[in-house]
Amino acid sequence: MAESLTITASSKSEIYQELLPQIEAVISSETNITANLANVTAILKEAFGWFWVGFYMCDSDTQLVLAPFQGTLACTRIKKGGGVCGTAWERGETIVVDDVEKFPVHIACSSLSRSEIVVPIWVGKEVIGVLDVDSESLSTFDQEDQKGLEEICNVISKMIIRCEK
Ligand code: SME
Repeated sequence: MAESLTITASSKSEIYQELLPQIEAVISSETNITANLANVTAILKEAFGWFWVGFYMCDSDTQLVLAPFQGTLACTRIKKGGGVCGTAWERGETIVVDDVEKFPVHIACSSLSRSEIVVPIWVGKEVIGVLDVDSESLSTFDQEDQKGLEEICNVISKMIIRCEK
């Protein structure tokens, strides 16, 4: 049966609070990681309407590869330390970019993207991929997004551990 998203809140932090259990519910009944990641991108795109939402997963010790996303055509591979995504992977920390033109190694998959947040996904002591969100406006992402998206990435991490067993 198809499921639908319920959002009643208007503030960003409340929207994140409403989303988390719905994301958990959707992915808890499925063991295919790609399917679950795809639904998370759909949920986030529907809830926030961002320009681009997607995952890049580690394909080796040195490269990320494009994974499920919602949005425009994107670069397929990003090197460790390259772009905002590869930098977040290398540093092992979330990066919030208010203006992508001021982030020297930013990779412009679309010239419409103006600000960005990238959150690493941890499994144990290793980053196994990142969640990347792009906006067409400057300074879209703040500490609430960082907190909300890090919580979502923790849920994703648990799902990946469960599905890989
Ligand atoms: N801007 C990203 C590349 C991926 S796209 O935004 C979809 C980066 O600098 O890593």
